[in-house]
Amino acid sequence: MTAELNAGAQESIYVTDALIAEDIDAYLLKHQHKTMLRFITCGSVDDGKSTLIGRLLYDTKMIFEDQLASLEKDSKAVGTQGGDIDFALLVDGLAAEREQGITIDVAYRFFATEKRKFIVADTPGHEQYTRNMVTGASTADLAVILIDARQGVLTQTRRHSYLVQLLGIRNVVLAINKMDLVGYSQERFYEIVKEYSHFAQQIGMQSFLPIPISGLKGENIASKSAAMPWYQGPTLLQHLEEAPVNDTRLQDHDFRMAVQWVNRPNLDFRGFAGQIGTGVIAPGDAIRVLPSGKTTTVKSIVTYDGDLPLAVAGQSVTLTFADEVDCSRGDVIVKADAPCEVADQFEATLVWMDEAAMLPGRPYLLKIGTQTVTATVTEPKYEVNVNTLEHLASRTLGLNAIGVVNISLDRAIPFEAYAQNPDLGGFILIDRMSNATVAAGMIHFALRRSQNIHWQAVDVNREAHAALKTQKPAVVWFTGLSGSGKSTIANLVEKKLHALGKHTFLLDGDNVRHGLNRDLGFTDADRVENIRRVGEVARLMTDAGLIVLTAFISPFRSERRMVRDLMAAGEFIEVFVNTPLEVAEARDVKGLYKKARSGALKNFTGIDSPYEAPEAAEITVNTVDLGAEEAADRIVEALLAR
Ligand code: ADX
Repeated sequence: MTAELNAGAQESIYVTDALIAEDIDAYLLKHQHKTMLRFITCGSVDDGKSTLIGRLLYDTKMIFEDQLASLEKDSKAVGTQGGDIDFALLVDGLAAEREQGITIDVAYRFFATEKRKFIVADTPGHEQYTRNMVTGASTADLAVILIDARQGVLTQTRRHSYLVQLLGIRNVVLAINKMDLVGYSQERFYEIVKEYSHFAQQIGMQSFLPIPISGLKGENIASKSAAMPWYQGPTLLQHLEEAPVNDTRLQDHDFRMAVQWVNRPNLDFRGFAGQIGTGVIAPGDAIRVLPSGKTTTVKSIVTYDGDLPLAVAGQSVTLTFADEVDCSRGDVIVKADAPCEVADQFEATLVWMDEAAMLPGRPYLLKIGTQTVTATVTEPKYEVNVNTLEHLASRTLGLNAIGVVNISLDRAIPFEAYAQNPDLGGFILIDRMSNATVAAGMIHFALRRSQNIHWQAVDVNREAHAALKTQKPAVVWFTGLSGSGKSTIANLVEKKLHALGKHTFLLDGDNVRHGLNRDLGFTDADRVENIRRVGEVARLMTDAGLIVLTAFISPFRSERRMVRDLMAAGEFIEVFVNTPLEVAEARDVKGLYKKARSGALKNFTGIDSPYEAPEAAEITVNTVDLGAEEAADRIVEALLAR
């Protein structure tokens, strides 16, 4: 094998490969005149994705130098030689590399032919996860959907096709693989094409190109298969070389540029830097900054290579304005007469990508363009069954689920429908505690209600209410296990504050659940909604000038933080009633622990439902060492000190 690879004819492999490994920029520069096609391969487990990618690299002679070294070593170890074996080792090498890089969502592999350069998004194992596929697909011009000819169209094929369509990839290849294992049967090929056509039509896919291939044998990859003379179409590589790449389409769209940063090297210069998402811009153009809507004109377009008379989609530039207009990171610059919409509520499709199911009402971070806002999601309007495309009723979205929801943001943002502009219509959701990306989303449209409901300013405002009561409003938020003593202590604290002439109100879990929240149970989703409502009510009560005490288990950090964020700084005082589970369970005032242990009561906090203790509560009391009276005294003292 070593001798073979060192043969004169293949010398150039080393040169090219060394450049890729050492300096990818130099490699790309060398191929600058060629267009670049980005594509993704997707399909189900065992459909031969690694083999196909290996075959593309192998047939285009893009074997990396370090891989050569390890292949050499391996081949010596097993004493093999010959063309096919080398290929098998290459595929194994790629697979091993992917598995080692398990923390990397997607490995991007580069290769090139005389006509074009390619980047293929290679997604690591765990093919059941949509996350990798969505990440890889988000920048792809083309998708290769792989099918094992023996298996035909599977659930995963449908899910991935649905996502490809949703993400707006319009160039789809249906690579029907492992044709060698079905005797290169034309009949089998057409059977699968027919089945897939039916599904493609249902999801609105306008066209796809079916190609019968064998990744393992290299049939119809780089060269026409002699085994399948009945196939008249292009080989996979031929099609990849000729497929259109989207670059002009972006320039035809209205001008949009999301501001990445404000460039202010000195007092005389203030520029707004970013990459032009769509459209064109020139000095003198009248523009508008969103969401504020302020207008001005472009004074100059600055780049490292000097000022430009015109800039187009894809270019990174700094714009300077004719007037001093406020503009910061996350804002979107548009032409004054062709703005995009601004709204704080949307309907969107969500692709859920986390093990932990979506929690309606929980605040997540939403990242769109160059900005990040806080978002809450409603219960799904429906979930999509990717096999039948039926709309299912659902209260949440689990791993890999696709559904339509309403999303509400903490402030208005400029946006466009994803179908029109993926840059300003595509977003991800991030869990605020774990920082994990939990979903990818696509905006459909703004909800009109967000434009038709305005905040009503009232004359007797919260300051006026508080002044009349001569007190500072606050929320004293008790959290702890059931039976920890929250209600007892909160009740004592209220009595003491009342005696001091303070205007208070106590909201207690058991009581609120008889009225306002009687429709809620104890699932995670219901607890989130319980706390969301209580938080809003407590907030209204502080607007009325009250000191509000609440006694709810409130087991999740996220929702306690959400209520904290609703309140002005210093007005949210978290009191952790830190009674260990053993103690609360031994007391078992309401006999609920016994029921929970016997299995008669499900989702009981501390038993089969989690409790996340506060990390930095303002006040912590411990009812093991302290009696309820003493604990209450301490809390009142701490409150008065504030
Ligand atoms: S929370 O988790 O949503 O904050 P909340 O404080 O309103 O709970 O209600 C807790 C009270 O409901 C408990 O004190 C207990 O009396 C009762 N309860 C009934 N079922 C459960 C359960 N599965 N888990 C916890 N508390 C329960």
